[in-house]
Amino acid sequence: MKRRKFIKITSKAACAAALLPSVGGLITGCTNLTDEGKPTTPSVANESWNFDEVVDRSGTWSIKYGRASEGQIPMWIADMDFRTAPAVSSALKERLNRDVLGYTYTPDEFYQSIIHWEKEMHDWQVEKDWVAYCPGVITAINQAYLTFTEPGDGIVVMPPVYNLFRMYAERLGRRVIDCPLLFDGKHYRMDFPGLERTLSSSDIKILVLCNPHNPVGIVWGPDDLRRIASICRQKGVLVISDEIHADLTLPGYQHTPFCSVSEDASAVGLVFASPTKSFNLAGVSMTAYCIIPNKELREPYLKQLRDLKLDEAPIPSLVATIAAYTEGAPWLQSLREYLQGNVQEVVDFFSYNDLGIKAIPPQASFLVWLDCRAMGLQQEELMRFFSDKAGLLLSNGAMYGQGGEGFVRMNIGCPRKIVKEALERMVQALDIR
Ligand SMILES: Cc1ncc(COP(=O)(O)O)c(C=O)c1O
Repeated sequence: MKRRKFIKITSKAACAAALLPSVGGLITGCTNLTDEGKPTTPSVANESWNFDEVVDRSGTWSIKYGRASEGQIPMWIADMDFRTAPAVSSALKERLNRDVLGYTYTPDEFYQSIIHWEKEMHDWQVEKDWVAYCPGVITAINQAYLTFTEPGDGIVVMPPVYNLFRMYAERLGRRVIDCPLLFDGKHYRMDFPGLERTLSSSDIKILVLCNPHNPVGIVWGPDDLRRIASICRQKGVLVISDEIHADLTLPGYQHTPFCSVSEDASAVGLVFASPTKSFNLAGVSMTAYCIIPNKELREPYLKQLRDLKLDEAPIPSLVATIAAYTEGAPWLQSLREYLQGNVQEVVDFFSYNDLGIKAIPPQASFLVWLDCRAMGLQQEELMRFFSDKAGLLLSNGAMYGQGGEGFVRMNIGCPRKIVKEALERMVQALDIR
C-alpha cells in the first residue's frame, strides 16, 4: 500500500513559514501573556508532549470508552485521547494545591486571555464588554434559544450538522427547519438561494451556524459569512455562530469569527467558543464564553444567564481557559501538525484502497467525514459493519440530519498507530486482501 509520509516540522521558523502562513503571533511566534496582558516568550517547550503516547483512560469515567465494548476502538464522541497541554494541567494542579476552593469571581485575566487569543489567532479585535463566561457551548446556545425565541418559533440549521443544535431546540419546543448544505460528491457549500427562501418565513428567529462545521469539516470563509450576515440582517434573523472548533484549523486554513466580517454580522451575531475542543478539556465542566458585540442582544442574553445563576464560572474553567490561551499556543501548534498527519493518513488510505469509502478531508478539527454510500449498505448495516465486523465505534452519519445517511464520522484525535489500526481493521473486515 502506498502512503505519503508525514513530515514533522520541528523548527519554529519552519512551522511558521510552512504550516500557518496567515496565523498571527500566538502560533508562529509562540507568545504568552504577562500580568499586564503583554506578550512574552513561551514557558513550555515542544519536548514536553508526545501525541504518539497511548494514554490509559481506564477508570476516568470516559464517556467515549464507557460505551465501547471489549476490543472495540472508540472513535465517536468529540474528545481526544491526548493529554491536555502541560501548561493547562500545571495551572490546574497549582490552583488545587491552594486547597481553598470558595466562591470565585471572574478575574480580568479571563477576559484578557480571550481578547488576546481572538486577536492573535483569528485577527479579531474584541472589546472586553462583549465577552462573558458561559457554562458550556451547548448550554449557552440553549440559553440563546430561550432568550430570543418563543415556543413554536423557527430555528434554522444546516445539516448534516452537529445533532445537539436540533435536539435541544426541539426539547425546548422550538421548530427546527433545515437548510441543507449542498454536496457535489467532493465538496460542501451553503445553499444561499435556499437560505433566502427558508428565512423568508416570518416565524424564523435564529440561524445556527457551525463555524467551522462539524461534521463536514469546512472552515467557512469571509465571503460566505458576509453573505449570511447580510441575508439574516435583511430578514431580521439572529445568527448563533458556534466556534468551538475554531482553534483547530488545519495547516493552510484560517478561521474567521462570524461577527468580525461586517457591520451586519456584528449586528445580528452571537459567537460561542471554548478551549474545550482544542485543549481537550471537555470534562472540565462548563468551560465556554460568548462574544456579543451588539449591546441590544448582549444585555438580554446576559440577563438570562444571571437570572438563572449561570454566570458564575467554576475555578477549573477559569484556570484552564487562562492557561490555555496564555501559554498553550506552542502545544496547540504541535497538536495541529499531528492532527494533519492523522488526516493525511486517512485520506491517503482511502484513496489508495478501494473500500467503497471516500474521506472528505476536513479543513479543521479531528473529525473525518466518511462517505460510505458506495458500499451499498443500509445505515444500520453500515453501523453494524463498523461496530461488529471492524470493531470500531464511529458516529452514525444519520444523526446529523439530512444528507447524513450513508456517512459515518471518524474521530482521529488519538495516537497515529490507533488510526492505522482502525484502517487496517476495515480492510480485514472487508476481507479484501
Ligand atoms: C459544534 C459543537 N458545538 C458544541 C459542542 C459541545 O460543546 P459543550 O461541551 O461546550 O456543550 C460540540 C461537541 O462535540 C460540537 O462539536
